[in-house]
Amino acid sequence: MSNAPILLTPGPLTTSLRTRQAMLMDWGSWDRDFNQLTASLCEQLLAIVDGAASHHCVPLQGSGTFAVEAAIGTLVPRDGKVLVLINGAYGQRLAKICKVLGRTYSTFETAEDQPTTAEDVERLLAADPTVTHVALIHCETSTGILNPLPAIAQVIKAHGKRLIIDAMSSFGALPIDAREVQFEALIAASGKCLEGVPGMGFVFAEKTALAAAEGNAHSLAMDLHDQHAYMAKTGQWRFTPPTHVVAALHEALLQYNEEGGLPARHQRYADNCKTLLDGMARIGLRSFLPTAIQAPIIVTFHAPKDPRYQFKDFYERVKAKGFILYPGKLTQVETFRVGCIGVVGAAGMQAAVDAVADVLREMEVLDI
Ligand SMILES: Cc1ncc(COP(=O)(O)O)c(C=O)c1O
Repeated sequence: MSNAPILLTPGPLTTSLRTRQAMLMDWGSWDRDFNQLTASLCEQLLAIVDGAASHHCVPLQGSGTFAVEAAIGTLVPRDGKVLVLINGAYGQRLAKICKVLGRTYSTFETAEDQPTTAEDVERLLAADPTVTHVALIHCETSTGILNPLPAIAQVIKAHGKRLIIDAMSSFGALPIDAREVQFEALIAASGKCLEGVPGMGFVFAEKTALAAAEGNAHSLAMDLHDQHAYMAKTGQWRFTPPTHVVAALHEALLQYNEEGGLPARHQRYADNCKTLLDGMARIGLRSFLPTAIQAPIIVTFHAPKDPRYQFKDFYERVKAKGFILYPGKLTQVETFRVGCIGVVGAAGMQAAVDAVADVLREMEVLDI
C-alpha cells in the first residue's frame, strides 16, 4: 500500500508500517502475554504525564467520546455540577454528554478563535460555588486552538475544584505534567498523537477520586471504577478488549520513545505546522487562527472566495495527488482543515502544499 494517501486528518491518521504490522498477530484476551501488553501500555502512557504516583490509567474500548463520557459519568457524582468551557464542537459535545447523563452543568462559551482564559474561570468559579468540576478541551480540534491549560488548572486548584481535561488531540505532543497540572481526569485515545490506530481511549483518573467513584456511573460498560477494579484484580479487560488496537498502540509507543518521546514528537509536529502555514501563506491561503493560539495539531484555513472553489472537488483532486484533507467544522465561515499529526514530516507537508497549489491552478481558482 505504498501509494495509499497520506491522511492529513486529526485521527484516524497515517500510521507506520511497523504499527500496522503489529496487528498481524491474534491475541487471547485472557492470555498472560496480552495482559502484560496492556499493563506495559498503561505504564508507558502514565509515564508521558509523569502520573504514576497520582493517577491510574484506565483503558476503555471505543472511540474517544466513549472515554470522555465514561470519565464524566464515573467521576462526577450524580449531585455534582460541571462547568463546561466551550470554544468549539468538542466543547459542545462535553456539554451534551453532561445533559444526556443528567449531570447538572453550566457552560461558558467564547468565540471559536478566542481561548478561554484563567481570568474567565476565576470569575465563573467565584460567582458559582456550587460547581464541583470544570471540563476543558485542551486543543479544540474543530479549529486547532490551544486553551491555556496550566493557568486555568491553577485557578481551579485554588478554588478547590476538580478538573477534567479532554486532551484527545494534544496528548503525547503537547506537554502536560501531572505533578504540576492538577487534574482529576485526563482523557485521550489511541489514534491521535501517539500514532496508533483508532479503537480505544484511556483515562488517567486521580487515584482517590476513582476509588470514591463506586456507584456513580450511569452505565455498566462505561463504568471506569469497575473497569479499573476488574483490571487491577485480574490483569484483564472487563469485556472483550480491542486486542489488535492494543498491540498496535504498544508498537507505536515503542516508536514514540525511539523518536525521542514527547519533545521529539512535539518538534516534528511544530515543524509540520510551520511548513504548512508558510507554504499555504505563499499560495495566499489564510489560516483562521493567529499563530499565538494555534496548536501544532491541525490548522483551519479560510476557503478561497472564488466561486470556482468547491470543497468536494478540491478534496477529490488533492486526494488524487496523495493527500486526504479534512472539511471545516465552523458554522459561520467556510473553511477546510489540514492536520499536522501522524507519520509525516516536513517534506510530506511541503508535498501536500504543492498538491494544493497545483489543484487550485487546475481548478482555475484565482480569487483566494
Ligand atoms: C478534542 C476531541 N475530543 C474528543 C474527540 C473524540 O472524538 P471521537 O469519539 O470521534 O474519537 C476528538 C476526536 O477527534 C477530539 O479531537
